[in-house]
Amino acid sequence: MSELILGIESSCDETGVALVRTREQGQAPELLAHALHSQIEMHQAYGGVVPELASRDHIRRVLPLTQSVLEQSGHALADVGLVAYTRGPGLAGALLVGAGVACALAAALDVPVLGVHHLEGHLLSPFLSADPPQFPFVALLVSGGHTQLMRVDGVGRYALLGETIDDAAGEAFDKSAKLMGLGYPGGPALARLAEEGDAQAFRLPRPLLHSGDLDFSFAGLKTAVLTQARKLGDELEARKADLAASTQAAIVDVLVKKTLAALQSTGLRRVVVAGGVGANRQLRSRLDAACAQRGVRVHYPELHLCTDNGAMIAMAAAMRVQAGLAQPQRDYLFDVKPR
Ligand code: KG4
Ligand code: ZN
Repeated sequence: MSELILGIESSCDETGVALVRTREQGQAPELLAHALHSQIEMHQAYGGVVPELASRDHIRRVLPLTQSVLEQSGHALADVGLVAYTRGPGLAGALLVGAGVACALAAALDVPVLGVHHLEGHLLSPFLSADPPQFPFVALLVSGGHTQLMRVDGVGRYALLGETIDDAAGEAFDKSAKLMGLGYPGGPALARLAEEGDAQAFRLPRPLLHSGDLDFSFAGLKTAVLTQARKLGDELEARKADLAASTQAAIVDVLVKKTLAALQSTGLRRVVVAGGVGANRQLRSRLDAACAQRGVRVHYPELHLCTDNGAMIAMAAAMRVQAGLAQPQRDYLFDVKPR
């Protein structure tokens, strides 16, 4: 039997709401509508996300976005059979907004709620595309807070193969961008500038490239970028594009090499790339080329669903429900897990 699931994402600086319909076993759930509000402009003046402002803006946006999703889909709120929300990780106050609204709506509708892990949302986001992956696959999860390689055998069947021991890949992009005065959000700005630069211009470290395991480390790279920027001094402005291109190349090199190593060690022939850094064009083209040579399929979420959104949360909830793994709650004790 199909069921309508409303999903709410509010873990950081995007408010996302979506409506998904579950389908029979073996068929991916169907996205009916989704709506997103990005807070980027609001935080830009501060050079980064201000948690208190983020929470307040989620409060302002979440109900109008819900209204918009219902209007787009032609459904009434009363048709919703389950409300899903991001339980964590993320900013505590921001998470509480989504959880609180989800529980209030569910209580009013007398339907259950389901807390979803934000990373599971990213991980399953490629199932929102027209050509979804098949299990099993290797997943490269690259967001602002996480960098992980996983073996994914099915919904809820995730084995961690390796992860960052310090900064995440997105953090490496963001912090390097900040050092170069590129503002917030740094990742996309650095990637844009890198297109005009020479990736060979500066020799930057590729930490743990030959470590023999599937772990990552990006803290040293950030320090190397800082050292290089200081060395350049007044010349930095003129060489910024080269430094951006060299930084991006160092990050992408490590991500591609370790992903190939994960494919090798698992013997799997499919990769899913998810999370904000999955929007990076250089990463996509380098990984596509390397995988094509090896006969490996690469799946990405649609570009606009790489960064945080409600569709991935509703999708993850629906896939859990269809797999019989969801434990929806009716006590409405909205609990969040910031870490
Ligand atoms: O998945 P996401 O939206 O939020 C988290 O769950 O963290 O990822 C955000 C991260 C940020 O670090 C942002 O700079 C990075 O993804 N990002 C990019 C690009 N677009 C977003 N990094 C590199 N190139 C991009 N095009
Ligand atoms: Zn995210």
